[in-house]
Order: sequence, then C-alpha cells, then structure tokens
Amino acid sequence: MSVVAIAAVGRNGAIGRQGDVPWHIPADWQRFKRVTTGCSLIMGRATFEAIGRPLPGRGSIVVSRDPDAGRKWLESGPGGKPLAEHTTVLFVDSIAAALAAADHTRTVWIGGGAQIYRAAWPLTEELDICEVDQSPEADAFFPAIEPAVWHEVERDQRDGYAFVRYHRRVADQG
Ligand SMILES: NC(=O)c1ccc[n+]([C@@H]2O[C@H](COP(=O)([O-])OP(=O)(O)OC[C@H]3O[C@@H](n4cnc5c(N)ncnc54)[C@H](OP(=O)(O)O)[C@@H]3O)[C@@H](O)[C@H]2O)c1
Repeated sequence: MSVVAIAAVGRNGAIGRQGDVPWHIPADWQRFKRVTTGCSLIMGRATFEAIGRPLPGRGSIVVSRDPDAGRKWLESGPGGKPLAEHTTVLFVDSIAAALAAADHTRTVWIGGGAQIYRAAWPLTEELDICEVDQSPEADAFFPAIEPAVWHEVERDQRDGYAFVRYHRRVADQG
C-alpha cells in the first residue's frame, strides 16, 4: 500500500501556528480520524504532543531524536492512561525506522508536522490534502506541491476548502 501524506494546507502553504492548526474545520478532523483509523500514522514528537493523546484505533509511530522520548511520554499524564482498543504508540528515531515499523498492508499515513512532511517527502507517494481557502499567519508550512512532480487525481470541493488527492508522477525513464 502507499505512503500518503495527509495535511490541511492554506493557500500560502500554512499548516501550523504556535503548535496549533490555524483554523477550525471539524469536517477535516473527522475525515482525518476516519481515514487513518486502523492504519499506521507517522508523526513528529511535536505533533503527537500537540494532539495530546494517542488517537484511538490506530498505530501512532512517533519520530523523535531523543532516545528517552518514549519513556518521558509514558511517565507523563497522557502516557500514564490506558490505551483504547487497537491503539499502539511506538517511538522511533528516524523516518526510515518509522516506515520499517509501519503496517504496509494498509495505507501508511504521514501525519506531520512540517519537519516530518519534509523528512518523509522523498518517500511519499501520494498526498491527501485539505486545501483551505485561507492564508493565515503561520510558522509551520507544507512543502511546495510542484505540478511537475505531483499530479492531481481527485478534487472534492466544499465550502471554504477542498479535499484533493495527488499522485507522484512516475519519473521519466527515457
Ligand atoms: N495542518 C495540518 O494538517 C497539520 C498536521 C500536523 C501538524 N501540524 C502543525 O505542524 C506544527 C508542528 O510541526 P513541527 O515541524 O514544528 O513539528 P513535528 O514535525 O510535528 O515534530 C518535530 C519533531 O520531530 C522530531 N524529528 C523531526 N525530524 C526528525 C528526523 N528526521 N529524525 C528524527 N526525529 C525527527 C524531533 O523531535 P525531538 O525534538 O523529540 O527530537 C522534532 O522536534 C504544529 O503547529 C501543528 O499544529 C499541522
């Protein structure tokens, strides 16, 4: 199955501000929860902490350079709580280790934030983007979606945003 980056992205590439998402779109969050359930979800330590708890029903793979990150989380408030059914949390120290640990029988989701989208970019095969019709102030940005590299295959227009799917263009072998 594919490795797919999932993100809500403003017209200016914005994805985050001061550790949070700069808009409130419940339909996007609900869709995110629905499509990632049952799958591996790779995210940076900052995004995992910002969400505040392991999302139930899926395998969170948290990337951190800190070898003690897992222990620190276990000893923290949220880390001390029992996990919901079919919920796992694994800390790894690289994108390569995250992909090696992921369940590739289903879509492997790259859930951000900016550092992780960037680090996983060369290995990302598809993009699942909520294109938000806003250009908010931000300090975290999605990589540029270059038309030479990414081919739009699906667009579901809503009021103020659109769910858009991109496939990586196959490199010209000639
Ligand atoms: N709009 C969206 O769809 C969306 C989705 C997700 C997040 N966000 C936003 O994005 C922002 C957070 O993004 P961010 O870039 O600051 O943080 P992030 O990517 O979530 O996490 C950064 C952390 O990941 C670890 N890390 C990064 N690259 C690594 C690598 N190559 N190898 C090993 N570990 C690595 C480091 O953890 P250690 O410091 O522990 O070493 C680093 O501090 C927030 O504002 C959040 O709300 C938006």
